[in-house]
Amino acid sequence: MPKVIEHDIIILGTGLAGLRAALQIAMETKGELNIALVSKVQIMRSHSVSAEGGTAAVLRQDEGDSFELHAWDTIKGSDFLADQDAVWKFVKRMPHEILLLDRWGIPWSRRPDGKIAQRPFGGHTFFRTVFAADKTGFFEMQTLYDTLQKYTDRYTRYDEFYATGIVVQDNTFRALVGISMPEGEIYILRGKALIIATGSANRMYGFTTTSISSTGDGMAMAYRLGIPVKDMEFIQFHPSGLIPSGILITEGARGEGGYLINNRGERFMKRYAPKFMELAPRDIVSRSIMTEIEEGRGFEGPYGLDYVLLDLRHLGAEKINRRLPLIRELAIKFAGVDPIEEPIPIRPVSHYSMGGIDVDLDGRTIIEGIWAAGEAACVSVHGANRLGSNSTAECLAWGYFVGKDVARYAKEKELRELPQEVADAEVRKITDMLAKDGPESPYQIKRELNRTMDNKVGVFRDKQNLEEALHTIKELKKRYRNIHVKDKSLTYNTDLMMAFELKNLLDMAEVVTEGALRREESRGAHFRRDFPKRDDENWLKHTLAYYDSEKDEPRFDYKPVRVLYWKPVERKY
Ligand code: FUM
Repeated sequence: MPKVIEHDIIILGTGLAGLRAALQIAMETKGELNIALVSKVQIMRSHSVSAEGGTAAVLRQDEGDSFELHAWDTIKGSDFLADQDAVWKFVKRMPHEILLLDRWGIPWSRRPDGKIAQRPFGGHTFFRTVFAADKTGFFEMQTLYDTLQKYTDRYTRYDEFYATGIVVQDNTFRALVGISMPEGEIYILRGKALIIATGSANRMYGFTTTSISSTGDGMAMAYRLGIPVKDMEFIQFHPSGLIPSGILITEGARGEGGYLINNRGERFMKRYAPKFMELAPRDIVSRSIMTEIEEGRGFEGPYGLDYVLLDLRHLGAEKINRRLPLIRELAIKFAGVDPIEEPIPIRPVSHYSMGGIDVDLDGRTIIEGIWAAGEAACVSVHGANRLGSNSTAECLAWGYFVGKDVARYAKEKELRELPQEVADAEVRKITDMLAKDGPESPYQIKRELNRTMDNKVGVFRDKQNLEEALHTIKELKKRYRNIHVKDKSLTYNTDLMMAFELKNLLDMAEVVTEGALRREESRGAHFRRDFPKRDDENWLKHTLAYYDSEKDEPRFDYKPVRVLYWKPVERKY
């Protein structure tokens, strides 16, 4: 029998957005509301800890920065697909978040005058990226985690709890269903409100900076409930994934002055972005690197991972050790290269999902009582291409906004009835999955999915490759119906968890690929060789993908972009 537990608010996902929301609710409600903090990992293993380079905010109006400039850089960076009111709300909030973290004890890197230091980042026209060496995500998470310790009476932790389904009745949230992995028990967590903050589905790619847990569980559950996912075709390829692991080599390395060089020793960015050079936005730098490689100016790498070099040697040992210690450690441990002595081999790597669960400016979805925040959501601040250091920033800003909105909502509402049949059906999905005994290996299906996404839905796209990828994904979905789950227990059953995760990855990969096939233009991170120009007349609009449960596939619709302050212009760097 599942355990049924009542809470007021359930937060699913404990990265930056989830923790920031938890903290806001705990502080605002002074113990009146009881929070469930649910994570499929231990909190400090959430993917946000691996964010490196920093968090963007306007702190230096006295030195020339402004909200208008941050908003304009973000909107231009987004290739004009961002909703401009969302961007404005975002830039105005960010300085508060930086100062709050400062007060809560984060060890921000400092300038010699004692002020919070900021470094240049791609596409930003002012040095506005606040950082804690190159471990910013880790320190932000630790600071939120520490601060939450003041409020342990206000929340219950469900660590290593794998959520499998959401119970909704009359378009209103009722409960979250899942498995406590350490206990081997099924739980039904009832609540008035649910915040989905589960990050991206970027593990649909094999070569990725994202942690193994980034399987789009929240996005996919929301999608199958009938909530649209938005702009999913826009996948960000970060320019510098370490060869061969794909581990992130922070853009902060270029922010501190690092060069990109090809096999002729040239700083090739002069050909593509003569003004911004290595600090052009990521979509442009990634395409430039891939062009160098394709035109024979790269280096031959293992497993077909040809690369270019990131040269930090001229920064000197002192600066590298002080500002980029993690990068040095990663390069030594995972590529056998000490950046003080040798350049680092890198190539573009799947890094971030600009798309996500469609939400309004408060993070609300179309189902009452369900919010989404962070990378799982699409507000949309980032449009077709996110600027570096705007992601940790968005997690903090919308953690705050959503936390505030949910606290207000939950104070006013009563806990609604649990529709037993719907909850039972969700529980049956777990037992049915456990019973799966078909001939197909989920691990093999995942490998084939990763290969397909890496090879056919990458930095450069075209109709033929996208059609082939979509065909393969649909075949993989058919084969998925006949998988086996070998481990039949409920305790720490990673085999069972992987089976659920794979379903989420397949569904989200289908949406990404079909969305990319339909979007016959190039905008931001979505570059179609067969449609190389941006087409504002036909495509200045958001993609919405709804789940068609009868056909088990997406149905597409579109909605306008809120272009309120700045008209789209040609994007030059
Ligand atoms: O390069 C980086 O440190 C990544 C930052 C980001 O994705 O915002």
